[in-house]
Amino acid sequence: MKIPVAEPMAAAGLELLRSQPGWQVVASNPKEYLQHLADADALVVRSAVKVTSEVLAKAPRLRAIGRAGVGVDNVDIAAATAAGVLVMNTPGGNAVAVAEHTLALMLAMARSIPQASSSTKNGLWEKKKFLGSELRGKTLGIIGLGSIGREVARRARAFEMKVVACDPYVSLRAVEDVSVQLVEMGELYAASDYIALHVALTPETRRMIGREAFAGMKDGVRLVNCARGELIDVAALREAIESGKVAGAALDVFDQEPPPSSYPLFGLDRVIATPHIAGATEEAQEIVGVRIAEQLAEY
Ligand code: MLT
Repeated sequence: MKIPVAEPMAAAGLELLRSQPGWQVVASNPKEYLQHLADADALVVRSAVKVTSEVLAKAPRLRAIGRAGVGVDNVDIAAATAAGVLVMNTPGGNAVAVAEHTLALMLAMARSIPQASSSTKNGLWEKKKFLGSELRGKTLGIIGLGSIGREVARRARAFEMKVVACDPYVSLRAVEDVSVQLVEMGELYAASDYIALHVALTPETRRMIGREAFAGMKDGVRLVNCARGELIDVAALREAIESGKVAGAALDVFDQEPPPSSYPLFGLDRVIATPHIAGATEEAQEIVGVRIAEQLAEY
């Protein structure tokens, strides 16, 4: 069996793949992995490689695609299914990492940490300018209460936040586990001081946060997106920040990755940005690497 690994993968995951008898594992990269597809039996990707129908056409022997991570929006599932290729991911594997980053970004907005750090390093001492606010007593609205949303809820409660969530697919059991109040989307928009997005990118969720959504939100709301950039209408977010409706946005993901330095939101001081690293901790990368290797071996 030949298995190209198209993106960097934790050593433990690679070792596990290599320990399977008769498996030839090729550690490659997004620029070169295509040359290994002609006789590949399985392919491992993270989020940079887009597995399109053109890519699948170059891999006639392929039987499985392992996505070391959660979102599978970088794989054309319909084309893979038509070609008889199973697509597997590792839901939950990086949930704690993404949840911790979400809380970090909320705190960074509440205390203007990136702005204060840059001001202080520039020799300024702007104590008055950086008067912050507390998370305690604020309402967090979580859109999407899957494994990541639930980890965010647990941590937000430790900060004494009130947590509401909207998720039409979640089971009541999952809600009981984290003591979250389930509400309709309009209610979540109206009640929340912070809104965190934790849904997959689907035709239903694409640009769900647009002008209509912002109109229903509280003045001064703060938005965190560690899910997918395409969930937000960027022009509408810019308008909402400029009008003061949105007091801050913390973005780990973008509708273009990497975004250019001219990205329409980057000129705004109220926007903080990180390069799609929410799930990128040593611990999470090891978990998703090992899990995808185990799943491929089982399959
Ligand atoms: C995920 O979908 O697992 C996260 O966004 C992190 C990643 O893309 O690898």
